Amino acid sequence: MSAQSDPQHSKSISVHSKITLSDIQAKKRESLPITMLTAYDYSSALLVDQAKIDVILVGDSLAMVMMGLESTVPVTMEEMLHHCRAVSKGAQRALLVGDMPFMSFQADTAEAVRNAGRFLKEGAMEAVKLEGGKEAVPTVKAIINAGIPVMGHIGLTPQSVSKLGGYRVQGKSSAAALSLLQDAIAMESAGCFSIVLEAVPAPVAKIISERLEIPIIGIGAGPECDGQVLVYHDLLGLFDRFTPKFVKQYANLNEVIHLALRAYADDVSSHQFPADEHTYPIEEGELEKFLELAKEY
Ligand code: KIV
Repeated sequence: MSAQSDPQHSKSISVHSKITLSDIQAKKRESLPITMLTAYDYSSALLVDQAKIDVILVGDSLAMVMMGLESTVPVTMEEMLHHCRAVSKGAQRALLVGDMPFMSFQADTAEAVRNAGRFLKEGAMEAVKLEGGKEAVPTVKAIINAGIPVMGHIGLTPQSVSKLGGYRVQGKSSAAALSLLQDAIAMESAGCFSIVLEAVPAPVAKIISERLEIPIIGIGAGPECDGQVLVYHDLLGLFDRFTPKFVKQYANLNEVIHLALRAYADDVSSHQFPADEHTYPIEEGELEKFLELAKEY
């Protein structure tokens, strides 16, 4: 199948080729929505990649959905890199973005550059994402100067949940919306190749997407962004806690998996599993010899 015959793909993206930063930017120019999803290990990355999602984010949301923590704040660089390496083994096509965890880039610019570099060298990612607006400009510039592409993340930034007073919609007043636009422009001027915009009223997100040349990837930011991102576990119904209003759940895998696990437990309890087809045979003669030998023990 050629790229032209696949309506999911831009004229400039071939079905088999690796997605690059310029493919993502070309999609914005061609008004083709960019698809992005999180993945955290080999098997989820393989599935996301096979679904031809453009961008895989190894999000720090793994703190909550993979590690069961209350927020994204505690996750460490080592834990992020562990998941990045696994994702890189499963994904062939998607652009791979690693999420810089809390305090890996805020305290010191040189440390931020080194940690961003680790995502590429040790995590096999192709870009990093970091949360922050105007205040993050010097850090973003330093990372990009080191040759590392940066995706910004503004609006609801979960690493600052204490400062924001909870997981609240951002940019609801005219002043707050203007401040968000200024953050977006600052990130674009600093050299970000794209920005995630989280939990923002749809009309505000539309204006920001129209004003910027780089792609705006929305999550809870309405349909007029240049692309959409969701958390893998939310989309598939794999998370046991809250599901935000902006999530569309495409499957309830928790239920499917629960039924499969119960069926396994029932089969074992009732001696239905393993059956003959799951069992290795041994030649009759060898078995008899073994029985003789075993008598001595
Ligand atoms: O960590 C994450 O999964 C994210 C997305 C929600 C954008 O930052």
